Amino acid sequence: MRIRKFENIFIKFINESVKHFKEIGSIAPDSAICVDSIVKSVPFESAELILEYGGGSGAVTGEIIKRREPESTFICFEKNNNFYHSLRQTIKGPNIFVLHEDVFNSKNVLLSKFNIQVGSVDCIISTLPWSLLDFEELLEKEVLPLLKEDGIFIQYMYSVAFLNGFRLRPILKKYFTQIDLDFVFFNIPPTFVYTCRGNRNPNI
Ligand SMILES: C[S@@+](CC[C@H](N)C(=O)[O-])C[C@H]1O[C@@H](n2cnc3c(N)ncnc32)[C@H](O)[C@@H]1O
Repeated sequence: MRIRKFENIFIKFINESVKHFKEIGSIAPDSAICVDSIVKSVPFESAELILEYGGGSGAVTGEIIKRREPESTFICFEKNNNFYHSLRQTIKGPNIFVLHEDVFNSKNVLLSKFNIQVGSVDCIISTLPWSLLDFEELLEKEVLPLLKEDGIFIQYMYSVAFLNGFRLRPILKKYFTQIDLDFVFFNIPPTFVYTCRGNRNPNI
């Protein structure tokens, strides 16, 4: 039964990836080890507001739901139509919201739908395919303004992107004072996970 469910998620992911590779940027959902590495730095016991950018198949989303405190608010952004609808079916609970929205509009959406102001997010967890996006624009216009001063930003990068010459650390260094790196071999493909603290310019 579990294997069948995993198979379904995998096939659905590959299907979407073939159709929208530039948005999804991956061929498989994140492995359990990768998910653990992504969420292990989230301050679940104190976080009041957690965002996820790019819920996809829900691998990371499900783990956030499991670990978060019930009174915290969790909001997941997913642009892909099919992923959004399946997340809506599986991800439910008090103070949990899945939005069919573009992350490049997250600040406006949070303000208009939830009256969430800038500087009020404890943690943003992103598995967006950053090398296919205008990532610095996202950091400057959405991530930095939304985060609390001691907020945490988590972003991963596939080793394939690294081999293709993409470098994430120098970009993150421009915006955060502390970057911690983890490497997850058991993921398709193996992945670097960056946990960033110390928002250099919260007022951008
Ligand atoms: C690498 S996949 C996420 C993988 C996910 N963690 C999983 O294990 O299934 C990236 C996701 O980001 C979403 N995405 C890409 N650009 C986006 C945007 N501008 N706004 C919202 N979601 C976006 C894609 O649709 C895709 O689901």
